[in-house]
Amino acid sequence: EGYSYGMVGLGVMGRNLLYNIADNGFSIAGFDLDVAKVKELEAEATSEMKIKGISSLEDFVSALESPRKIILMVPAGKPVDAVLESLTPLLSKGDIVIDAGNSYFEDTNRRIADLASKNLHFMGMGVSGGEKGARFGPSIMPGGDLEAFRLLQPMLEAISAKVDNEACTAYMGKGSAGNYVKMVHNGIEYAIMQLISEAYDLLKRGAKLNNDELYQVFKEWNSGEMNSFLIEITRDIFQQKDSLTDGYLLDQILDKAGAKGTGKWTSEQAMEIGVSIPTIDIAVTSRILSAYKEERVCASKLYSDREITNPEDTKAFIKEVGDALYLATLISYAQGLALLVKASEEYGFEIPLKDVVKIWRGGCIIRSVLLEKFYLAYTQDPHLSNILLDKDISVIVKEKISSLRKTAAYAASNGIPSLGLQTALGYFDAYTTASLPVNLIQAQRDYFGAHTYQRTDREGVFHTSWQSLNQ
Ligand code: 6PG
Repeated sequence: EGYSYGMVGLGVMGRNLLYNIADNGFSIAGFDLDVAKVKELEAEATSEMKIKGISSLEDFVSALESPRKIILMVPAGKPVDAVLESLTPLLSKGDIVIDAGNSYFEDTNRRIADLASKNLHFMGMGVSGGEKGARFGPSIMPGGDLEAFRLLQPMLEAISAKVDNEACTAYMGKGSAGNYVKMVHNGIEYAIMQLISEAYDLLKRGAKLNNDELYQVFKEWNSGEMNSFLIEITRDIFQQKDSLTDGYLLDQILDKAGAKGTGKWTSEQAMEIGVSIPTIDIAVTSRILSAYKEERVCASKLYSDREITNPEDTKAFIKEVGDALYLATLISYAQGLALLVKASEEYGFEIPLKDVVKIWRGGCIIRSVLLEKFYLAYTQDPHLSNILLDKDISVIVKEKISSLRKTAAYAASNGIPSLGLQTALGYFDAYTTASLPVNLIQAQRDYFGAHTYQRTDREGVFHTSWQSLNQ
């Protein structure tokens, strides 16, 4: 009898997801060209698991029951196309290929069309939660063909994380919606990580907290309204000792952050379809700036005249930084979710925002108790264009905004970089200003380029022969 599922790619993520599927009672065959990985797969399996490792693609395909359900867990980009090229000729009508990597949504659109022309289903499915998540319960964001999704649904619900006994997986919409939602998840992930790093800097260089004290602060934050995966792991990072020196590992890590592209895509997309997500943008560009290590060292010597004044009341400062971080995080989610709203219209995804925040409550990297509040907001109004417009959310924002202002002001006046916090505040201030000074920009555009403008007091499009007074 054939296996119910197939997994292509037995790297850490693929193998862990495969074990998770097997743990939940589904039979699954794993394929990898690397014979060592195939052997390892079976060696580490438990006796209850119905699994098989195979290193011939033909044997793998014929080991699967019909319609085949094949999950790809290979690096995004060319590797996915390479797999599809050798895999699709071996498949039969109605078979389903599910790409569980961080693929670019446009690539998924192309692959959906390509496989559809061969009578095959192709689905993009975001999976978040890292190695542990994949093994014990990730947040899963599938999209695309609804019939194909229905066939996978019981398995996905079984293997995903659970919050209040509800599975952290749901149908994310048509076409490549699954990849799109995961991309935005990662954009928000970038923003929150940037903000946490700024809070760390403020507490470390501003309030002069050491790693043990930072651990305590993050522990406390994580036990309250700021409870989230990223705060939790940050807490633990402050306690990690270094195996090569006597100090803490964090203090030995080079301040250059890498990126694999999903954050950049989120920003590019936002520009492309006209959505303002500055805190995500700044998080992407901050990683880029971090790479200029040598230049930064030179510049720091040239401009070494900055002095940091410690805050007077450390306890109050910690509270303020915490509230600022909380609110800036909320604003980052607001930006990412607003991008999903627009993308849903623009690309016809029909993304259910309520389900997005619901399945982000567990398993994924950006899981946090804050998402529960968003879930309530979308339950009341599934078409909310921006989470900041929700009444209950506005109460939280009003409570915290002065802390964000004070923290941003402290950072600015002491020269502690705080691009994320400043941008979150700037976005909030602009978003909540009824009359922006952009009337002047329109006047300038019309002045030098006859780009025309609209008026506040009457309909129509206007152009003026602006008078130069410099004669
Ligand atoms: C997740 C993560 C995962 C991965 C990111 C990291 O949700 O499990 O987002 O997908 O860790 O790709 O992205 P960068 O390497 O670009 O930071």
